[in-house]
Amino acid sequence: MKTHLLALQDFTRLQLQTFLDRAQVLKQEAREGKRHQQLAGRTICMLFEKPSTRTRVSFESAMYAMGGRVIFMSAKDTQLGRGEPLKDTARVLARYVDGIVVRTFGQEVVEELARYSDVPVINALTDLHHPCQVLSDIMTVIEKKGAPEDLKVVWLGDGNNMANSWIQAASVLGFPLTLACPEGYDPDSELLKIARENGSQPITVLRDPVEAIAGADVINIDVWASMGQEDEASMRLDIFRPYQLDADLLARAAAGAVVLHCLPAHREEEITEEVLEGSQCVAFDQAENKMHMHKAILEYMINGIN
Ligand code: CP
Ligand code: NVA
Repeated sequence: MKTHLLALQDFTRLQLQTFLDRAQVLKQEAREGKRHQQLAGRTICMLFEKPSTRTRVSFESAMYAMGGRVIFMSAKDTQLGRGEPLKDTARVLARYVDGIVVRTFGQEVVEELARYSDVPVINALTDLHHPCQVLSDIMTVIEKKGAPEDLKVVWLGDGNNMANSWIQAASVLGFPLTLACPEGYDPDSELLKIARENGSQPITVLRDPVEAIAGADVINIDVWASMGQEDEASMRLDIFRPYQLDADLLARAAAGAVVLHCLPAHREEEITEEVLEGSQCVAFDQAENKMHMHKAILEYMINGIN
């Protein structure tokens, strides 16, 4: 198993499948009341430079549910904010804890921490990737619809961190992916090129959301302005308006299609209240699955495969 979890393209299909299978077992066992202690005596540090509700609480709950402990640090509480180098921070934290979970801006921040850390570094969202979220979301897809290779999976909207991680998941796990993004808001071009070269199934980027959603089994929606892009939010409203998932657009998908939104959602922007609260939306199951997926990730990254 890879030492750090920074991006999904760093893993093999078998390794990602291991996370998916193990998370499902841990979820089932939790429902049966089984107590887990695999991470007893272990501690993680969570270093967050952006806000979080789900990722923070689900990682913390996951660690506690496995018998471990958590130290949470917001960026303003650390010496990083006063200029202490990442390489020093990584080497210090690695002497205290068994894993470091990081939410930050640049992917180079998690890469630098990983380079200097002797304990696993886990990416809990950067501007470029949100790998743990997409693993949880694929777990949800499998639960609701079955294996993604047998489905039409669609991304509508910004070619952002979530889109990039979906592209890498499609490449590694081998399922086709269709994205529709406005011009100028495509996914990262280098990442897309590598994903296409390594993947066995087409990864298609379209402009037209109507064309993309036709016959879709799984529709992924996310905010139009991600954290750090607040200044662009009002300008993006007009550009992204055709990509709003409303009941009319959803009606063009396959019967029984599921709608995924990693949350938080902006109602009446990227998704209407009607669709978000409708029977096809599985956003709250996704949110729950983050906790079970994070248990699987922490177990394997800290303990290794057992
Ligand atoms: N989906 C997600 O990452 O949510 P938070 O920003 O609340 O962690
Ligand atoms: N793309 C969003 C995801 C939030 C979980 C952002 O980065 O803000």
